[in-house]
Amino acid sequence: MRKHIVAGNWKMNNGLIQTETLISELKQQTKTSDAEVMIAPSFTNLWHAFQSTRQDPIEVVAQNMHFADNGAYTGEVSAGMLKSIGIKTVILGHSERRAYFNETDESLARKVDQALEHEMRVIFCFGEELFNRKAGNHEDIVERQIKNALFHLDADAFKHIVLAYEPVWAIGTGETATPDQAQDMHAFIRQTLEAKYGKDVANDMTILYGGSVKPANAKEIFSKPDVDGGLIGGASLKAEDFFAIVNAF
Ligand code: 13P
Repeated sequence: MRKHIVAGNWKMNNGLIQTETLISELKQQTKTSDAEVMIAPSFTNLWHAFQSTRQDPIEVVAQNMHFADNGAYTGEVSAGMLKSIGIKTVILGHSERRAYFNETDESLARKVDQALEHEMRVIFCFGEELFNRKAGNHEDIVERQIKNALFHLDADAFKHIVLAYEPVWAIGTGETATPDQAQDMHAFIRQTLEAKYGKDVANDMTILYGGSVKPANAKEIFSKPDVDGGLIGGASLKAEDFFAIVNAF
């Protein structure tokens, strides 16, 4: 079902003490919107974050996971491990994982399958780079990323997927896609889904925008009809800013 979601991707920030502090500050904020709130701390703090938000309307989600069940994959974390501590949602395909850890559409397709097999919800990220946008082929790039990683799935699987369009040139740069650029791409993503899976899947899909979303620009971006929420990096590390974004709906 299509819903509003605002998710904070903490990336590689916050040790245990900072995690505790930020969560207690988040709990003091008042939610006035209907958005689902998620936070994605590092692996080491997931258990603690999960425990300390049990009574709160904040879902703790993972930033990544491996595609195998278990085995000789030093340094990796499996879906089963995440499930065993109560984590039910995972972010996959973030552009930083694609750029710095060689994640490909093919390996991401395997991760998506693995997450769905474990009945996890996936926040699937994708987006073009600046040179793509300048060359005018940003829609082709996005279409390919979605098709390669997701179009082997059946329509039912999309109930467990949230899409996150994050143009690489807007991440951590202070440069945001304009609300119209976000809207155009989100509408294109919905059309791409509709062409393969029909209207219901397309209309029910929750599509988030990510890339320099701040309290000052969230309202305008979220006012666009095909933008269902945000995946927030830097601004999710400050409780007040994050909740100003949550409440921008
Ligand atoms: P910023 O909000 O810091 O640009 O990061 C966006 C992002 O990558 C969220 O996953």
